[in-house]
Amino acid sequence: MGTRRSSSSLVLAGVFLVLAVAANAQLSESFYARTCPGGVAAVRNVVVNAVRNDRRFAAGLLRLHFHDCWVRGCDGSVLLNSNSRGTAEKDAGPNLSLQGFGIIDQAKAALERTCPGVFSCADILALAARDAVSFIGGPNWKVPLGRRDGTVSRASEANAQLPQTSMSFSQLASNFASKGLSESDLILLSGAHTIGLTHCNAITPRLYNFPGSRDGADPSLNKTFVSEKRRVCPNTRAAANNFVNLDSSRGGQTFDTNYYQNVLNHKATFRSDDALISVSRGRNLVRAIASGSQSRFFSEFGSSMEKMGRIGVLTGRNGQIRRICSRTN
Ligand code: HEM
Ligand SMILES: *[C@@H]1O[C@H](CO)[C@@H](O)[C@H](O)[C@H]1NC(C)=O
Ligand SMILES: *[C@@H]1O[C@H](CO)[C@@H](O)[C@H](O)[C@H]1NC(C)=O
Repeated sequence: MGTRRSSSSLVLAGVFLVLAVAANAQLSESFYARTCPGGVAAVRNVVVNAVRNDRRFAAGLLRLHFHDCWVRGCDGSVLLNSNSRGTAEKDAGPNLSLQGFGIIDQAKAALERTCPGVFSCADILALAARDAVSFIGGPNWKVPLGRRDGTVSRASEANAQLPQTSMSFSQLASNFASKGLSESDLILLSGAHTIGLTHCNAITPRLYNFPGSRDGADPSLNKTFVSEKRRVCPNTRAAANNFVNLDSSRGGQTFDTNYYQNVLNHKATFRSDDALISVSRGRNLVRAIASGSQSRFFSEFGSSMEKMGRIGVLTGRNGQIRRICSRTN
């Protein structure tokens, strides 16, 4: 009896293992090879044209993919339009400056002409982030495909689940762990802040009226950095929507390891960036990336992106293939 039970649970465990592997294997780079052979190239075309016109879209698309994956998995839910109650992911607090929606819509329109009802919005977004970042000279990574689109988008979930700039290392690490990502993934993916912009109001709390500070600034910041940022972000309501580069080196839109130098030099934008070196494990990895080769960083960043792109994906018969990315069918 005992042996029979344990052998049947062994078989069951085996079945679960096969299922788990199969679920993972459902994403594949050649997913559309037969159903939409030119699709991957068509997405790249649209993205490259947009980013050639304005490099800032690379940051926009990368952040959009991140926000998508964090809420209900990489299911295109961030692309869904707001509803009359204003309770979609787009309406959540951390949505500030989300951009790139138009590029996704344009790619989708092109694909609906050549292979209608086949190519998911979630896959378009995953490809667009990769194509945009590699086009500006950043890392390249594999994008296995076969994600399907979700039908639900909730601001409350985005507010509750996206990481916040005020988080400590352990809060960030557990936020990433809740998505199946490691501390190394946290540190590598934070390197995305080597490109892009922030609104002043995400940084002014560190420049003025910082609790317990004599001159108003967060004492952990470099003083030169503080005066530079105060110039771009005066303490006025009108300036709240000014933009600042997250990493102002080399024009602010160059993907490199300079973000990690900024963190070590106390010139990083957010407290969540500084938090990476607040524990020795984090500090060691930040130092290793800052002093290591760019190609090594690129390949590790790429691996973490591929991992991020697998968070909570809908495959098989789950979800749908939206015809318009901003609306469910
Ligand atoms: C670790 C926790 C993180 C926090 C707290 C955080 C927070 C933020 C905030 C507040 C902004 C500025 C928004 C604005 O004011 O407009 C921003 C921008 C950005 N974030 Fe993060 N982020 C985090 C991780 C990530 C990750 C994992 C990625 C991608 C892999 C990413 C990519 C970006 C990019 C590219 C921008 C610039 C967007 C643009 O210029 O349009 N961030 N982030
Ligand atoms: C972000 O949320 C605000 C406030 O709800 C909203 O007015 C804005 O349109 C949203 N941004 C995007 C890109 O949807
Ligand atoms: C702050 O940055 C400036 C300019 O880059 C540098 O000269 C200075 O040494 C830094 N201050 C500290 C305390 O590291």
